[in-house]
Amino acid sequence: MTPPVGETGSAHSPAHAAHDSAGHGHEESYQPVLVGTVRDELDQILERYPTKMAALLPALWLLQNARGWVSEYSMAEVAQALDLTPAYVKGVVTFYTMYHQHPVGRYFVQVCTTSPCMACGAEDTVAALLRHTGCGELGTTSADGKFTVIEVECLGACGFATPVMINEEFVESVTPDKVPTILAQLR
Ligand code: FES
Repeated sequence: MTPPVGETGSAHSPAHAAHDSAGHGHEESYQPVLVGTVRDELDQILERYPTKMAALLPALWLLQNARGWVSEYSMAEVAQALDLTPAYVKGVVTFYTMYHQHPVGRYFVQVCTTSPCMACGAEDTVAALLRHTGCGELGTTSADGKFTVIEVECLGACGFATPVMINEEFVESVTPDKVPTILAQLR
């Protein structure tokens, strides 16, 4: 499982998140993301699309993988790179739940809690994840910066309750007793 990679090339840490948090409110301290190899990747993406606008989703994905989340300043940076308005980019970022608008843990854990999975015990799986990750509450990042757990709607695996997405990896049939083993493989 590949965790999101920070701008220095290592997985982003709480310190990294704090840096981004600071940059969120101070334009002068914002460190551009679309530079160096990340900019090279963006240029490669742009070659595959008929217009810059058409490349917005993969461009945002690229930026999020590099920075860990998409701040207002990052939205403006993408907008400038793709000749779009910041408002247009923000509209797209806020539409899709896959884009993080605030720093999250190195492992972003999404748990289906739609009715069929709830009927099969999703609530207990969520409770186990919150307890064993140390997050405590939904949407909160653990003190070690490793985990953020959220509830999501149907993940399309209703026959495998409870399905959990950990970054881009799909884990089926997660029951509370399996949670410690699953998390141990991530640490
Ligand atoms: S209801 Fe949980 S995956 Fe569909």
